[in-house]
Amino acid sequence: MDYLYLEEIDSTNKYAKERVNDIPDRTVVYTYKQTAGRGRLQRKWNYTGENNIYASIVLKPSDEMRDVYSNLTQLLCVVLAEAFEEYNINPKIKWPNDIRVNGKKISGILAEAVTTQNGFLKGLILGFGVNLNVPKEVLENIDQPATSLNLETGKFIDKEVFLQKVINKFCLYYNRFLEEGFILIKEDYKRRAEFLNNDVAVKVFDKTIEGKAIDITDNGALKLVDKANKEHILLIGDIL
Ligand code: BTN
Repeated sequence: MDYLYLEEIDSTNKYAKERVNDIPDRTVVYTYKQTAGRGRLQRKWNYTGENNIYASIVLKPSDEMRDVYSNLTQLLCVVLAEAFEEYNINPKIKWPNDIRVNGKKISGILAEAVTTQNGFLKGLILGFGVNLNVPKEVLENIDQPATSLNLETGKFIDKEVFLQKVINKFCLYYNRFLEEGFILIKEDYKRRAEFLNNDVAVKVFDKTIEGKAIDITDNGALKLVDKANKEHILLIGDIL
């Protein structure tokens, strides 16, 4: 992996998208000052200070889109969870790709694909933000329950060390993951999955589906059973 450090930027994802032609395959674009971070579903990602991670991995695995690429966020989730566990905390994955500790969000992922007009793939951008050292007052101003690794461990966290751990782990899996797909990490993902065997409401575009989350499929989809005993296999959505 190559690294591209930016002193200050509005959004590492936006930067990577706009310059995807010039950024080589397997490059980590990162900053410690992100002024207009973006989240999933048109949300924003708050800037929580210079001791946290704001990064985007640029990947160019092929010219054509493949289903497995949409599972790369789940690979990144497992890798982030493994990195957190090295600090002796217990992260949970909120399907599809949030990481939470004791019900509070500690990391989020925003994946974007850049394609040509004819539908060819120019690159995938896997953006992730990690709360490593966020002051308590700053966390309280975030619009959803959030935490930070320093608060969970009581220690200051070295951001360079954490980023390196995540990228090294990601590289260890990446080639095999492209060949074998989600099944390679299925058990690692499921073991940490929050809400499995619970009743959930999942927002899919403008619809909400309620049911019991019974499984994660071999493709990384969430399997629900609703009150009428009907099965739903969800590839995208947001657990409310
Ligand atoms: C989410 O939880 O909704 C996803 C948040 C993703 C935030 C990261 S920070 C680095 C990268 N650049 C962005 O603008 N967003 C992602």
